[in-house]
Amino acid sequence: MLHPLIIFTACLPLLYRLVVAVLPAAYLEPYAYWSSEGLNRIPGQEVSTRWRNMGYWADTNEYGKANEALATRLLDFANATEGGAILDIAHGAGDSLLLHLSHDPPPKHLHALTSLSSDTLHAQDLISSKYPNPSTDIQWFTSSASFRPGKDHDHPLNPMRGFLGRSKSTRRDQDADEDGEVEQSLDQDTTPPGPPPYDLIYILDAIYHFPPSLPHFLATVLPALTPETGVVAYTDILPPPDLSPIWTSILPSLLSIPGRNVAARPKGFVEYKALLERIGYVEVEIEDWSEGVWNGLAGFLRERGGVWGWVAWGVEQAEKTGWKFVAVRAKRPALKGET
Ligand SMILES: *[C@@H]1O[C@H](CO)[C@@H](O)[C@H](O)[C@H]1NC(C)=O
Repeated sequence: MLHPLIIFTACLPLLYRLVVAVLPAAYLEPYAYWSSEGLNRIPGQEVSTRWRNMGYWADTNEYGKANEALATRLLDFANATEGGAILDIAHGAGDSLLLHLSHDPPPKHLHALTSLSSDTLHAQDLISSKYPNPSTDIQWFTSSASFRPGKDHDHPLNPMRGFLGRSKSTRRDQDADEDGEVEQSLDQDTTPPGPPPYDLIYILDAIYHFPPSLPHFLATVLPALTPETGVVAYTDILPPPDLSPIWTSILPSLLSIPGRNVAARPKGFVEYKALLERIGYVEVEIEDWSEGVWNGLAGFLRERGGVWGWVAWGVEQAEKTGWKFVAVRAKRPALKGET
């Protein structure tokens, strides 16, 4: 007789396809299934965070703390120009946005893009409760992360967005200072919609989901970065070079990842770096963070019991078979003719 786990695993793609056929699109976001409330909860404690990433578990076994540690680690690794313009793609319920705003100095502009309007609403509530009067200009975008030239005019990755004359700045034109005098802020009626370009484009645990493929997506990110100093920083999951064709056919629909992001991946860090350089990036750095991620995540999930034990098993298998959790940082070069 076949082991029930094998039957279950074999049925998952079919189940997933059935689910895809009947559920509205909003429910198909892979992480909409993860209850971030449940994951962040600690028995007997008030927990207000809604983190939803894989976590960096070196110094903790609590989900929220590990998630914050991973987010902070990626921000440090980015080493971007401070006090500039940040675009955070797939910010979830907004905890990473708080991280940017709490930085000293805070960014001048913070643009937040997520594909779920529920995430936008939750993040807006969170930010306005913690930062009712931010010095940062914050703009919200609810749309697919992928930018289609000629179609998505208001997309933050549209390098022509500033030239289309549409302003969506949420900043007030006038601010009363301490003496009660009304000060004309720098922004006039013709407020430019702000950057691009961005000093930092920050993508935590999400880039592998973006269609049509990682190289294509990164090519659309490059022109939205500030020449010479702008940085993209993200975490990625790299399949082993010898991944079996069975997995390359099952995993994309199971994990909601474009097929090419499983089947057509660089076969190691040298190839990965070369890929980014071909797209046009310079100063590419790739770090292997697997050790701080897989075991801690598996241990946490296993402790939760039930169906999470199977997910934990999956994470352990991934680690054993050579899947890498990596952090990537890459810079846009200076424009030609500049130094
Ligand atoms: C971070 O950036 C600064 C300024 O560009 C540079 O001097 C420094 O060496 C960088 N730090 C790391 C760890 O790369």
